[in-house]
Amino acid sequence: MYFSTGVMLMINFAEVSKNFGPLIAVDAFSCRVDKGEIFGLVGPDGAGKTTILRLLVNLLDPDTGTITIDDVPTHRFPRSKLGYMPQKFSLYGDLTISENINFFASLYRLDKLTIQQRSQEMLSLTGLSGFENRLADNLSGGMKQKLALSSALMTRPELMILDEPTYGVDPESRKEFWQILYRLNQEGITIVISTPYMDEAELCHRVALVNTGQLLQCDTPSALKQIFAGQVVEVGANTSDPYFFDDCRQVIDSSYYYLRFHLWTERHPELFQLLKEYAFNKDGPDLEIKYISPSMEDVFAFLVEPRLGPDRFNAQ
Ligand SMILES: Nc1ncnc2c1ncn2[C@@H]1O[C@H](COP(=O)(O)OP(=O)(O)O)[C@@H](O)[C@H]1O
Ligand SMILES: [Mg+2]
Repeated sequence: MYFSTGVMLMINFAEVSKNFGPLIAVDAFSCRVDKGEIFGLVGPDGAGKTTILRLLVNLLDPDTGTITIDDVPTHRFPRSKLGYMPQKFSLYGDLTISENINFFASLYRLDKLTIQQRSQEMLSLTGLSGFENRLADNLSGGMKQKLALSSALMTRPELMILDEPTYGVDPESRKEFWQILYRLNQEGITIVISTPYMDEAELCHRVALVNTGQLLQCDTPSALKQIFAGQVVEVGANTSDPYFFDDCRQVIDSSYYYLRFHLWTERHPELFQLLKEYAFNKDGPDLEIKYISPSMEDVFAFLVEPRLGPDRFNAQ
């Protein structure tokens, strides 16, 4: 099914809701994922990411709404075309890397020769070649994630779904993991990945920002940044008072990092001048001010916190 943009739809969530007793874990969630995308589901712990992905891989049924993959309901999408790396996956600690992969592949009834060829390919892709005989128990967090990914890739899925694969993994391994994802994506695999890390949102082609089971916004990282209606500035100031800007009329929010502030301000042509006058009138230090573009963290906080929402700026 081609759209006028020439982009092919892969996944469609339409008003999907899921409750656990009185708790609304997913609340009328709608969005689409196109073929060939790296699509991020980004939000804090408890936002509903894992539940959304479990619904997507048909481990859970929605209470209301529908999810289709390639235009068919999720339960009719061939299991072998779908790779899934759950948030808490099981590896057999007393089996080696090779044995874990072989075991996983045998569940899909792949024949021995195919398993042998593909496991070589996956180990080389994920940088685990040379470690085939190491016990899973003796792997670092990052290597465990790579092994889980290698296993999930053995069926050569068209769609790879990864639930918080970099959670708690060190920054260097996180970077390596993303490099692998880009390689997979270049081979044509559509990737849906969830993460609580806002900086990882920037690495996705498109992002759904979720909070309390609801979709806040879904767009490209650069388009999401356009939503931020204020201005972010970084200010160097020789003061140890973290509340220095609290009475400044133009400042909506301020965070202090030793001698440096991250400010949300209203947009104003004389902004720098006004901030400097404020500091001067307070007998404060000289300010070194520069504009910075909002981070995804800024955008998320802006969308979540009504006090700081667009109305706050419009009211000025
Ligand atoms: N099986 C379950 N039973 C009851 N509550 C659940 C269950 N799974 C998730 N939840 C709750 O649903 C909400 C969303 O959880 P989850 O989807 O795991 O969020 P995330 O992955 O973004 O951290 C949380 O409040 C969580 O406690
Ligand atoms: Mg989760």
